[in-house]
Formats: sequence, structure tokens, C-alpha cells
Amino acid sequence: MEPLDARPIETARAAARLAGRIQMEGLNKPLEIDHKGRYDLVTDVDRRSEQAIINTLAEAFPEVGILAEEEVRTATEANQVWIVDPLDGTTNYASGYPAFCVSIALRRAGEIVLGVVYEPVRNELFEAIRGQGARLNGSAVKVSNTRELSQSLLATGFPYDRCEQPETNLDRFCAMTMRTRGVRRGGSAALDLCYTACGRLDGYWEIRLNPWDISAGALIVSEAGGKVTSISGDRYDWSGMDTLASNGLLHGKLTDSLASLDRPAPCFG
Ligand code: IPD
Ligand code: CA
Ligand code: CA
Repeated sequence: MEPLDARPIETARAAARLAGRIQMEGLNKPLEIDHKGRYDLVTDVDRRSEQAIINTLAEAFPEVGILAEEEVRTATEANQVWIVDPLDGTTNYASGYPAFCVSIALRRAGEIVLGVVYEPVRNELFEAIRGQGARLNGSAVKVSNTRELSQSLLATGFPYDRCEQPETNLDRFCAMTMRTRGVRRGGSAALDLCYTACGRLDGYWEIRLNPWDISAGALIVSEAGGKVTSISGDRYDWSGMDTLASNGLLHGKLTDSLASLDRPAPCFG
């Protein structure tokens, strides 16, 4: 495969920053909110961010397919595809809770080769190119060196369809809360992954996500020296259905603890 030149990452950065500006302008202003499911929201800012990103990517690379969360699916079976979450953390955003980001990845010949995650509130841009390490605002980042679960800080999330499906992730959340310093529910999978990449978190897991939630962040974790697999520790398939990321040192302990826990929990309300 041809090595990547600078143009794709420069374009992804520009698109992410453009969407970040749209999000900062819209933050804490009245939003148009639609429901994609009981708890799954989409706002006009998600849609405007997506449009701005797509315009930027498509203008620079008209031949590359696009898989974006809200509306855009073009030639997603193509050899090269942009995978875009225009606003990861919509529930936070809709309440003015300042933890959300833009996530853009490039898949080439079935492999994620580039990832950019931009958090506009902190002006933090995480990025990775396969084989070239991970960066935060231009400086190299590495995963933590925590070896014990009892000294670790983790993150997770809960699927939007938690009232429709038997597996809710609540058992795992309870068990890991008792075995670690804490388990955060930040509300943005892409940020959870990037925070694992730069050592703010030691590990992260989640179920029933989509490729746009995790593609950029998972590459950033791997390139920061971490490990990404399914929760049972199998090879990663990038679908987002079942994701465990860690600093690598804790990975075995996390798979041992998490893999056996998936008892259904009741839904109230
Ligand atoms: C969501 C966030 C959240 C995760 C959800 C995702 P969205 O993405 O990443 O942290 O728990 O399951 O769907 O809907 O805000 O783009
Ligand atoms: Ca998302
Ligand atoms: Ca989203």
C-alpha cells in the first residue's frame, strides 16, 4: 500500500476544526432536537457539523467514499472511505455539558490508517497515522504505565437501546467500580479512547457502538502504545460492537474481569 502523504491528515484536521467551530458557536444556544430512538438524539448542530466535514473531505478527495453517522453514506465499500462522527457526545452537547468532539478516520483497503479527534472546548486535537505514533496538539502521547486494577481509572458507556436489549453493561460497570479507583461515564466514546491514549484513563470498554464512534480513537490508542481488542480479548474487528482498549499492561486483567459479566439488567421507567 502506498504510504500516506500529508494531505489526508491536513484535510481531516481542517474538517474537524471547522466542525468544532460550528459546535462552539451553537453551544448553550437553542437547538433543534430530534429523537432517533428513545434516548438517541440528533441536533441541528450534528447535521451542520456533518455537512461541513463532508464538504471539506469531498472537495479534497472526491474519489474517497464516506460513511458518516447522520446522513451520508457514499461508496462505503470503496477501497478508501472516510468514517465520520460529526459530534460524538450529542447527549452531553444537548444539555450544554462540555464533553464532546469530532471524530474522523480514513479506512484504506480495510485498515484504519489515520484518525483525528478534535475536542473544541479544550482545543485539543488528537491524531494518529498508522505506524507513526499518536499526538495531542502536535506532541507525542503515550498510554499510562498502571499495572494494577486497584490503581486504575477506567471509562465505559451504555448503549442507547439499553431498554430494548438484554445486555446493558451495568453488571460490568458495578463490578469494575468495586475493583478500580473508579469508572467514568464521560459520554463520548472517541474522547474515552483518546484519554486512554494519553494516560488520563488506563482503560475503556463499551458495547454496541458503531465504526464512526471508535475508528479514529482506536487507532490513536494503538499508536500510543496501547491495545485494542474485543472485550473477550479476541482480535479487533472495528465494527464497534464490542470494544476494549487499555494501556496494554492491564489488558489481561480487564479481559478476565469483564468477559464473564453480561447478565441482563431490568429497565425501569
Ligand atoms: C455516543 C457516545 C457515548 C456512547 C454512545 C455513543 P453519539 O455517540 O459516544 O459515549 O456511550 O453509545 O453512541 O450518539 O453522541 O455520537
Ligand atoms: Ca458517537
Ligand atoms: Ca454522533
